[in-house]
Amino acid sequence: RRILLVNGPNLNLLGTREPEIYGEDTLADVEALVARVAAEFGLEVRAVQSNHEGALIDAIHAAREDCVAVVINPGALTHTSVALRDALTGVRLPVAEVHISNVHAREEFRHRSYVSGIAECVIVGAGVQGYDFAVRRLAALLAG
Ligand code: DQA
Repeated sequence: RRILLVNGPNLNLLGTREPEIYGEDTLADVEALVARVAAEFGLEVRAVQSNHEGALIDAIHAAREDCVAVVINPGALTHTSVALRDALTGVRLPVAEVHISNVHAREEFRHRSYVSGIAECVIVGAGVQGYDFAVRRLAALLAG
């Protein structure tokens, strides 16, 4: 069984991008963390990062074939993309939404998420550890 890990726009810059907000771990560190935690539960991971909304939607559609859940940090698309939300709803997989920073303590435009309303859980402000929590929560849900 496999989890799809989706990271949206600009998250390829993790580690160098505003480290005071997002910390110093890189995307490769995050992907390794998720793979390690998933493995504890016998789950595999497919990791996708793109700066293109359509590529993310295609990856979510493809997950219908061979994934059982989605961990997603949609980046700024969180606050703008009905299409991403509809893709997640469309594949009917349980979704854990992660934000490294506490979006609620930041600009007003980051307070609204189009994804939260369809997510099983939402983890904000826990740094990259939020991805760890997300995998554990999904594993618990999958275990029933
Ligand atoms: C983010 C928060 C978003 O508002 C921002 O656009 C990002 C990263 C986070 O992980 O804290 O790109 O999703």
